[in-house]
Amino acid sequence: MIDHSARHYAARTHEKMREVLMDPAAPGPAVHYHMTRGGSAQRNVTCWEPGTVGGEYIKTYGHYHVGDLDETYWILLGEGVAIIQKRAEGPDGPIDDEIDGIYAVHVKAGDAIYMPCGWGHLVVNTSATYLVTADDSPVDFGEKDAVSLPGHADYEPVRKMGGFAYFVAERDGRPALVRNPRYRKVPEIGIIEARDYPLKRPG
Ligand SMILES: [Fe+2]
Repeated sequence: MIDHSARHYAARTHEKMREVLMDPAAPGPAVHYHMTRGGSAQRNVTCWEPGTVGGEYIKTYGHYHVGDLDETYWILLGEGVAIIQKRAEGPDGPIDDEIDGIYAVHVKAGDAIYMPCGWGHLVVNTSATYLVTADDSPVDFGEKDAVSLPGHADYEPVRKMGGFAYFVAERDGRPALVRNPRYRKVPEIGIIEARDYPLKRPG
């Protein structure tokens, strides 16, 4: 049964995105990306504005999942770079400024990219057009801010670190990775193609 009473639309504003930008003082569009959230069954659709903010391509805020949740993103329009990162495990849980594994994956319309549980993820839009994806993340419409900041997604470590371990910046018209200096330990990586991304949905 489809619930037509649920609130589905959310916008990620420049004000909120400043917490995680390479240059938090840079001007940007009022809304960086638009979310229409339907959950696992109906799917969620995300639409990124094109362009850069302080030299950094427009991106999603980025989050880790709470619990065993994984998800798949299908790229419907445009192209971009997905950043997928895993924190080191300490005796008291994950260490926010120590990254054990990280991938930067070039994705384009027709690609699907798997986000395993335990790996944080964000996607940047490197297109001249909107970037549009669908994903199968659940939404619990009963919770307080289900659509804008769903409870299964942990944004706090990303806010604390001022973004992910790499920013994706425009250099000579092309995407380039820039280290976020707040992270203490990060593997050196380059941008790979989606076919070379080794993390796949099990089974
Ligand atoms: Fe997610």
